[in-house]
Amino acid sequence: MNILILGSGGREHAFAWKVKQSPKCEKIFIAPGNGGTNKVGTNLDLDINNFDKVGDAIEKHDIGMLIIGPEDPLVNGIVDHLREDKKFENLKIIGPKAKGAILEGSKEYAKEFMKKHGIPTADAITVTKENLDETIKYMERLDPPYVLKADGLAGGKGVIITEELEEARKSLRELIEGKKFGSASEKVLIEQFLKGIEVSFFVITDGKDYRILPEAKDYKRIGEKDTGLNTGGMGAVSPVAFADRAFKEKVNNRIIKPTIEGLKKEKIDYCGFIFFGLINVGGDPYIIEYNVRMGDPETEVVLPRIKTDFLELLVAAADKNLIDTEIEYERFTASTVMYVSRGYPEFYEKGHEIIIGDVKTVLPFHAGTKMKDGKLVTNGGRVIALTGLGKNLGEALSKSYAGGQEVTWEGKRFRGDIGFDLKALGQ
Ligand code: AMP
Ligand code: GLY
Repeated sequence: MNILILGSGGREHAFAWKVKQSPKCEKIFIAPGNGGTNKVGTNLDLDINNFDKVGDAIEKHDIGMLIIGPEDPLVNGIVDHLREDKKFENLKIIGPKAKGAILEGSKEYAKEFMKKHGIPTADAITVTKENLDETIKYMERLDPPYVLKADGLAGGKGVIITEELEEARKSLRELIEGKKFGSASEKVLIEQFLKGIEVSFFVITDGKDYRILPEAKDYKRIGEKDTGLNTGGMGAVSPVAFADRAFKEKVNNRIIKPTIEGLKKEKIDYCGFIFFGLINVGGDPYIIEYNVRMGDPETEVVLPRIKTDFLELLVAAADKNLIDTEIEYERFTASTVMYVSRGYPEFYEKGHEIIIGDVKTVLPFHAGTKMKDGKLVTNGGRVIALTGLGKNLGEALSKSYAGGQEVTWEGKRFRGDIGFDLKALGQ
């Protein structure tokens, strides 16, 4: 089977690397891909939000399975668009239609869904320009920190958390009146702050059944000890030891099962991944967000820990046959450290030549890289994720960091403390 993967990050490189290991996999195409994916398959230079162009590529390359990496084509309805076309009747698609993708596309919808289906989450109110003034007054009665979330997609920048009432009020006005994220911030949720440690769970579902993938923890802030601006993710670890058996059972019973049941009740036919962003509050899981795709860089630690033929699992999901599958995990620990451009997540330069030395002890997953005039150069804020595998967290991390010494470009930056909080908990 020929596979087309949409996206250009470390996540998509990891998908390509993993599906290629399956005997069922013939050719792999990645659109648009990066300077690493072209070594696993063929990069296609196309705009993944131009669905007709994606359709043309599917026909031209005789694609049997389409895997959609990022959320925006999903929220914009790529699956609906392709499904309208008879030619693609038999195409296997990993990713939900717009009606399912709204779980990520609208935080207000997701919150209503969670409440309706009894899934533990933070309380929230929705603010629009109609109730802005009264909310600004009412905020005095709320306890800090204040959590503000733009309703729509804001490229990971739509959440503001502050201790200061005045700053919260100002941000709320900027989001709604100033349309900071355009129509995505016409509505804003003010959410109860949940105190605890974060962990992410992932499932692949065919809409009826699901299989739980290895859990992971990511490190979103740019600075060490979780300080500074939010990024797409600076590193990740799997497994997460505090997510023990008892906790996992709670996650399954209180969050995952009711979500899948909720999808059925809402008649949302869902095939793809669901990413549950959770906070462990005193041993109890609360959901803070759904994503309708895998995480990046979480995928770079989750996929190496799946022993089962991943492509077979995806085929079973697309054929609505997950009930007949089992998923087996590897026992080792995986860590990934994201090496980024100077300035990221704000302004950063591109085009610096990347020199890669001996990286045999890690899995290098390219993100913002590309080939230019025969040289590999930086092409994004997050440049490359180096995944180390080890019998424990220390061993995995020491590989991720040793690998980093073999990869150089001008202005390379990284966090030196990935896993610090888990180590403090004894992992
Ligand atoms: P999100 O974009 O929803 O993942 O939010 C970004 C980050 O904000 C999360 O990774 C959390 O660290 C934090 N966050 C979001 N919602 C809450 C909440 N209700 N309480 C505490 N922290 C939160
Ligand atoms: N690393 C967080 C995300 O993919 O949303």
